[in-house]
Amino acid sequence: MEDRELFLKAKEVMPRAYAPFSGFKVGAALLSTDGRVFTGVNVENSSYGGTICAERGACMKAISEGAQKFEMIAIATSEDFAWPCGLCRQFLYEFAPDLKVIAGPDEDNLRTLTLKELLPEGFRL
Ligand code: THU
Repeated sequence: MEDRELFLKAKEVMPRAYAPFSGFKVGAALLSTDGRVFTGVNVENSSYGGTICAERGACMKAISEGAQKFEMIAIATSEDFAWPCGLCRQFLYEFAPDLKVIAGPDEDNLRTLTLKELLPEGFRL
């Protein structure tokens, strides 16, 4: 699957994010090695600390559907663009240290980094 196509899936779900506190909506699309795409959005909570990012939401869906190997994740945001937060980097590293990460303000301005670039010397047991 092309980077652009995966990003468009992240962008498609992004408006469904529940982000009444920050107003910052995020959509993620995670591509498994068997070709399936799992999407996620950030879901905030009144407790603030209970907030779950789009990337972890997508990963949770994938694991519950039996996918544990991933090639690529795309992230779309309602403002500008963002790389995954530190917690999501570590969460994804558990399953896919060599993950390709795509982010951008739009599908014509995508940037690519590897998860290892975003999280050098990541922790794994
Ligand atoms: N957020 C994500 O969903 N993914 C990121 O990569 C960065 C941050 C969410 C968490 C929170 O709901 C909002 O964006 C502002 O931090």
